Amino acid sequence: MENPFKFGTVVDDKFFTDRKEEIEHVKQVLNSNNHLIIISPRRFGKTSLIRKVTKNLNRKIIYLDLQLITDTSDFAAQLLKRVLNVNKWEKIKQLISHFRIVPTISLNPLTNGIDVSFQPTTNHFVVLEDVLNLIEKTGKDENKPVVVLDEFQEIQNINKNMDRQLRSVLQQHQFVNYVFLGSMESMMKDIFEDKKSPFYHFGYLMTLKKIPGSDFFNFLEKRFLPITPESRTVSEQILKFTECHPFYTQQLAFYCWNHLQTDAYNDRMLETVVTKVTREHDTDYERLWNTLNKTDKKIMIELSLKNHSPLQDLSLSQPTSTIYSGIKRLLQKGYIVKNEEYEPDDPFFKKWIADKRTLLNI
Ligand SMILES: Nc1ncnc2c1ncn2[C@@H]1O[C@H](COP(=O)(O)OP(=O)(O)O)[C@@H](O)[C@H]1O
Ligand SMILES: [Mg+2]
Repeated sequence: MENPFKFGTVVDDKFFTDRKEEIEHVKQVLNSNNHLIIISPRRFGKTSLIRKVTKNLNRKIIYLDLQLITDTSDFAAQLLKRVLNVNKWEKIKQLISHFRIVPTISLNPLTNGIDVSFQPTTNHFVVLEDVLNLIEKTGKDENKPVVVLDEFQEIQNINKNMDRQLRSVLQQHQFVNYVFLGSMESMMKDIFEDKKSPFYHFGYLMTLKKIPGSDFFNFLEKRFLPITPESRTVSEQILKFTECHPFYTQQLAFYCWNHLQTDAYNDRMLETVVTKVTREHDTDYERLWNTLNKTDKKIMIELSLKNHSPLQDLSLSQPTSTIYSGIKRLLQKGYIVKNEEYEPDDPFFKKWIADKRTLLNI
């Protein structure tokens, strides 16, 4: 039997659950003249959601993850590569020949794909501007391309004026729907909800929440049923540990399912599997831990030992302002998230910390 759970990459079809309302919302916005902004902590399912909707749209989809973009010309080159992928060369070659900096486009025999690069220039933004305007020119009112810029908060690392420059070009576009996905909640909110930001209220803002418990429970229970008579208990225990976080739930379910293939359920199963996963990540967690400063470590320890500590309860014996800047840093890095209260994002990391502090791991 094939393991019915999947984590780490985009999920669809049998690995995808719920999000019915969100799918409808996304469709509606993309069928209007508006742009869309989706914000959530990392690994909540933004990319999966947008892929699921755009896959069935029958429109030109230009998807770019900004995490791997190194500078403005690279942004332009990677974007153009994707534009070439969804348009007929004959239709756009004329437009490209009018670019202020002409790109080098070649066929890569190793990958069978196209390579795009731009000659070095002092004004990198014109290169990107030409590519963006090309997309607008390929659009029609009744058939707008959809440009998805994933991990959009990264524009701040690409170039510090990028937001202002991008906004000045994108606001003139009428025949493109832009979708901005972002994981660092505070940075995304600075971009789209701060009145001083060039992108203030640029589109319909949607915050993606965790998958509702009852939906996730049904999803898990159905998949555990063929392998254990305790499918209800297993599903409940998993969701209790992961608190319905989409990625960690799939990850833990994956390992539990593997475990149940060889061992029958017993009441220590969850603890055994969780310990196994936590140990597997020991090196990563240690490396991550060592990147934190003293205040951050103290906050992480407090949040890992207590469930849902309100900030004022943290017994950190440090000035409030120091704690606040620590919290802000940890939020930005994505190590903690704010649901009802602040909590570590990764339940396994939380357990790793808690175990080390309570000597269970020796
Ligand atoms: N609708 C869903 N149903 C089931 N699992 C999901 C769903 N959305 C996300 N996941 C889980 O979360 C993981 C991360 O999803 P992803 O789309 O990459 O998140 P993001 O783009 O927000 O970081 C997926 O690999 C999958 O395990
Ligand atoms: Mg993503």
